[in-house]
Amino acid sequence: MSVVVANIGELVTFAPGRPVRHGAAVVLVDGVVQWVGDDSDAPPADARVDAAGGAVIPGFVDSHSHLVFAGDRAAEFEARMAGRPYAAGGIRSTVAATREASVAELRVRLARLVAEARAQGTTTLEIKSGYGLTVADEERALRLAREVTDESTFLGAHVVPAEYASDRGAYVDLVRGPMLAACAPHVRWVDVFIGSGAFSVDEARLILEAGRDAGLGLRVHAGQLAADGGVALAVELGAASVDHCTHLTAADVQALADSARADASTDSPSASTATVATLLPLVEFSTRQPYPDARRLLDAGVSVAIATDCNPGSNFSSSMPLALALAVREMGVTPLEALEAATVGGARALRRDDVGHVRVGSRGGVVLLDAPSHSWLAYRVGVPLVRDVIGGPR
Ligand code: NIG
Ligand code: FE
Repeated sequence: MSVVVANIGELVTFAPGRPVRHGAAVVLVDGVVQWVGDDSDAPPADARVDAAGGAVIPGFVDSHSHLVFAGDRAAEFEARMAGRPYAAGGIRSTVAATREASVAELRVRLARLVAEARAQGTTTLEIKSGYGLTVADEERALRLAREVTDESTFLGAHVVPAEYASDRGAYVDLVRGPMLAACAPHVRWVDVFIGSGAFSVDEARLILEAGRDAGLGLRVHAGQLAADGGVALAVELGAASVDHCTHLTAADVQALADSARADASTDSPSASTATVATLLPLVEFSTRQPYPDARRLLDAGVSVAIATDCNPGSNFSSSMPLALALAVREMGVTPLEALEAATVGGARALRRDDVGHVRVGSRGGVVLLDAPSHSWLAYRVGVPLVRDVIGGPR
């Protein structure tokens, strides 16, 4: 089935040398981009979609989310807005609710969140476990995640569950032993939450090295609550991404920039060795933390992504457009830089060549906006501008 998207006012392709073009059309066959060119040259197709002079952008790549869970923590959010700080301990209440829930209930909730994200333009979505924290509950979460995405991540090291509170070492051994063995067949990635109330750098090293030995790619939560040494570990181990980066030292910024500079594969994220800094501005919004300085990172040469981190605790929004608007308003980047971080940047964070752009062969889908330019995503903040989403990995 071929579709031509015609009458596009502004097409954001992120193609090298020509990231934005005007008066263009795009042809997709079974969701894969087959042709990009001037509207007047567009070949015939089975169906025609009229962009009505609006902007068309690549599908967002949300490279960080936690969508397999039950319950909510609205009361915790209200307490935060009244001045209470975010603490990792809240994760345990979602663990209790998730363990109680049936597979059917978790599947319905997950499907609803995935549909919600897609309606806002997200076509590629990474999903982590981390609210099971037993071998069976983590494996169950990851089987569910695998039903909706190829980008699933084992996060048994989210927090130490209550039943292991007096023996952390035993929990770390469980995660890097039997839990990893049960979960590895269902995932591409392993992740560890480094920070106070979660895991130390030394514990994270043990778990990440075991994940790497099991053939998984590495991701790290670090720098959310303080500069904690997690960025240095992520770069040292060649992690694809270090996420949050709310608190960074000058040495962290240098290490991230050096890893981007040492990466020879500028056009091939799948061959990349760089550690991407994935910024999560919705978390800063929802936890009243200072926003990370994306301008400083880009100017230093760091490879930057923007993602939602949608989860019931530190941020319960799946909105990539809002994340992008916050980055523009609070983090010193232009609308085009923010959009690039939310598409190409996310693809780099997932080491994917095939999503995050609109070029021949792109599999990441396209998003039609009710707006003449991508900048309106930040300009008309909070307004649902996504008119249609076509294609996407699945
Ligand atoms: O990425 N930082 C750790 N994990 C999540 C929060 C999960 C939760 O609070 O439930 C995050 O922010
Ligand atoms: Fe997270």
